[in-house]
This record gives sequence, C-alpha cells and structure tokens, in this order.
Amino acid sequence: MGSLLIKNGEIVSPLDCTFQDIYIEDGKIAALGKDLDVSADRVLDAAGQYVLPGGIDVHTHLDMPFMGEVSADDFESGTAAAMAGGTTSIIDYIVPGKGQSLLEALATWKSKAKTAVADYGFHMAVTWYSDQVAREMAVCVREEGIPSFKAFLAYKDAIMVNDEELVGLLKCSRELNALIMAHCENGEIVAELQEKLFAEGKVEPKYHALSRPSYAEGESAFRLASLARAIGVPAYFVHMSCAESTRVLVEARAQGMDIYGETCPQYLLLDDSVYDKPDFLGAAYVMSPPIRPKGHAESLWGAIRAGQIQVVGTDHCPFNLKGQKELGRDDFRKIPNGAAGIEDRLKLLYTYGVMKGRITINQMVAITSTNPAKIFGMYPQKGSITVGADADLVIWQPDGEGTISAMTHYHRVDTSIFEGYRTVGAPAVVIANGRVQCEDGKLMVEPGAGRFIPRKLTV
Ligand code: URP
Ligand code: ZN
Ligand code: ZN
Ligand code: ZN
Repeated sequence: MGSLLIKNGEIVSPLDCTFQDIYIEDGKIAALGKDLDVSADRVLDAAGQYVLPGGIDVHTHLDMPFMGEVSADDFESGTAAAMAGGTTSIIDYIVPGKGQSLLEALATWKSKAKTAVADYGFHMAVTWYSDQVAREMAVCVREEGIPSFKAFLAYKDAIMVNDEELVGLLKCSRELNALIMAHCENGEIVAELQEKLFAEGKVEPKYHALSRPSYAEGESAFRLASLARAIGVPAYFVHMSCAESTRVLVEARAQGMDIYGETCPQYLLLDDSVYDKPDFLGAAYVMSPPIRPKGHAESLWGAIRAGQIQVVGTDHCPFNLKGQKELGRDDFRKIPNGAAGIEDRLKLLYTYGVMKGRITINQMVAITSTNPAKIFGMYPQKGSITVGADADLVIWQPDGEGTISAMTHYHRVDTSIFEGYRTVGAPAVVIANGRVQCEDGKLMVEPGAGRFIPRKLTV
C-alpha cells in the first residue's frame, strides 16, 4: 500500500485545532508534525482546509428486514454513500427475530456485510430474553467483539421487549461489561393510540406522528434510566427526538449516572409540518420516533452544546416511496419506518451546526467521530488523529455550496428527507485505511474492502 502525505491542513480534535502535516504508511498514521520532511507516493495539499477524523456512524440499518420490507441500501451501497459523505466507519444493527438465535442472526449479518466498502462493527438487538439469549450475549461480547445490545421498548407484538425481559438484559450486561442501548418509546401507548386513530378513519402518514407522542418517549427513557439505576449499569438512549427524553438524560447524568445520549440530524433540523406534505409524500418522513413539533430541536441542540448528548448518528434505514412506503397508503401503521441520512450527516452538522454557531467544529468532531469511538470501544484506533491510529481522515473544504437531493445522492432510495436543503462545505478528500476513497465527490471505493472492527468497551 502506498504512502500519503497531507500537508498544511488544520487538524481538528474535540479539544483544539492545530496546523500539522500527516504522514500515512500501510493504512496507519505514521507521523504527525509541522513541516514533516518525508517523501511520499502522493502529497495532498490541504491548505485552507480542515482535516477531521473520519466520521463514525454508530446507528445504521443496512439490508435489514423490517415491517415486511428490506431497507433499500445494502452494505455496499450504504457504506459507499457513507464514504461520499465523510463517514469511514459504521456500526450496524443485527436484528434477530423473536425466538431466533443471536448467533444465527450474526452469521446472516456477517454474510450481508461482505460487500462493505467501509470498516464496520455490529450492535446486537435483543428482541426476546432467555437463558439461551444470555449465553449467546456472552459469546457476542467475549468471542465476537460485539459488546453493545439494543432493546426496543416500542414495536409491540413485533420486536418489543417487556420490562421483565429488559431487567434480564440489564443484569446480563452487568456481568458482561456490556452496554444496553434502547429505543425509547412506550410501545403500549403507541399501540393504544394507533388503534384509536385508525378506528376513527385517520389513516394518513401524519397520524403516525400523532400516535407516537413525545411523552411516550419521555416515559420510556425514564423507565430505562430507573431500571439501569436500580441494577447499577450504564445505558445509552438511541435516536433521541424530544425535550422529554432530553430532560431525563440531563437529570440522570446530574445524579451521577453513566447515561449517554444520541440524536440524529432529522430531529435537529425538521419539524412535524413535513407530515402535511401532499400526495403521500409525508410517508418519506415516517420513522420512529417521529419528527417532532417545533421547539424540541432546540432542546437537543442545547444538550449537544452542553455535552449531555454525546453522539449524532443517522438511524439510516431507507425505504423507497414506490413499492415500499406505498404499502401503507391506506394505513399509516403499515408504512415501513425509516429514512436515509448516512451521506448527509457531516454536511448538515457543518452547515446548520457549525456555520450557524450552534456548535464548534471541535464539537462536530466529538459528536460524529471521537465520542462514538470512545463509547463503543474503537478508540484510539478510530476517532483520533494520532500516530498509530487507522488513517481514516476527511479533508474538509469549508466553503462551496451544495444542495441535497435524491437526484444526486449515493443513497439507493428514491427520496431524501433533506431534499432541497442547502449545504456549505463538503468533504474534498475522504481517506480510509490510508486509501483515497472519494475525491471531489467522485467515489473510488472497493466492495469488500471494509473490515470488521471487533470492539471491547473501556468507558
Ligand atoms: O424508524 C426507524 N427508526 N427505523 C429503524 C428501526 C429503529 O427503530 O431504529
Ligand atoms: Zn480552528
Ligand atoms: Zn429504534
Ligand atoms: Zn435505528
């Protein structure tokens, strides 16, 4: 593998910005310093540009069977879109069915991931609980490099776990030094409201949002925090969307709990007026939790700024409007939940976070790369620009405007929930494991080049 020298760039870490050259050899960062006196096979001049650690998206659903459909991006197209947007590693969710062996599902996901162009890890969803599940969780942690598990507190009669199962899971995580992540929405409240609205003839996409009120997220977040507190384990709230769960997070942390929070660009940038779009276009925004009324996003931005929310992932889970979302034209409950975002995350956070003065560029690096690497056990191999780390880097061009559109994105899906969104700044060069993967918007990725990254938790 060739060597690479990046000169004159401004390196951004969560703590500072420094002007140093970066020398890369055999896929790793081999030297860092001012005016490095080395020769390389290729020299990239990053003057006037930032150099960021490659983005890490710890919340993706590629090639995932869900609600009778399969998410539209597979590991190849999904990780290629990620690379185009400056995300060089992902952690994807394995979702076994109720009653299915975790290890059997793991084998299926290993095979799906063979075409990944970016490095990847797995989280294991636990959709039921038993002695067998506990034994298989131990194998995941000790032999397979999978120390994080997701519980769904929503999706009743499908993949939801009840409180008794959740307690089992939390206790098991204590034995294994694993992290429990949860989808916080009270599935009983949602099921009740879905039935009521549908019986009243309310079938359009906007009733998806009305059947999943923010108080159902708040209740479920508080329940998880309370159970984790009683059992004495850390916990992680995935895809937080509202003020209620943010309050629970802030309060639990103030009481000394080890609780982490994640949100996604859609909850930071959109409001529930998207569900009023005509011609069933609101279905593109049907995801869980739903897009919230105006006001919630400001709570989330505030919590990011204060370091209370540590991670911005995407929950990338695309379904085409044609042929997939359409299945719920007469019943919002049948619209497959999820949307695309893996390619857009950094541009959106830079434009609507950094450029708008809501966060600093250092905070952007923290929430998109360094914090996820630390929380999920990939640091300092990933998420840091230090000697010995994987050479996963983004040379970020801070100016230049663009527009997000389904016509031009690499996501393999027919809509974008950020259609028409103006962006400032873009990845000029994306490097993963020392290889240039994308330059000036042109992808040069290799299917199967992505490696599985085994993880072990340290925080
Ligand atoms: O609507 C969503 N979020 N779909 C993906 C599954 C999940 O709950 O994360
Ligand atoms: Zn700076
Ligand atoms: Zn979820
Ligand atoms: Zn998800």
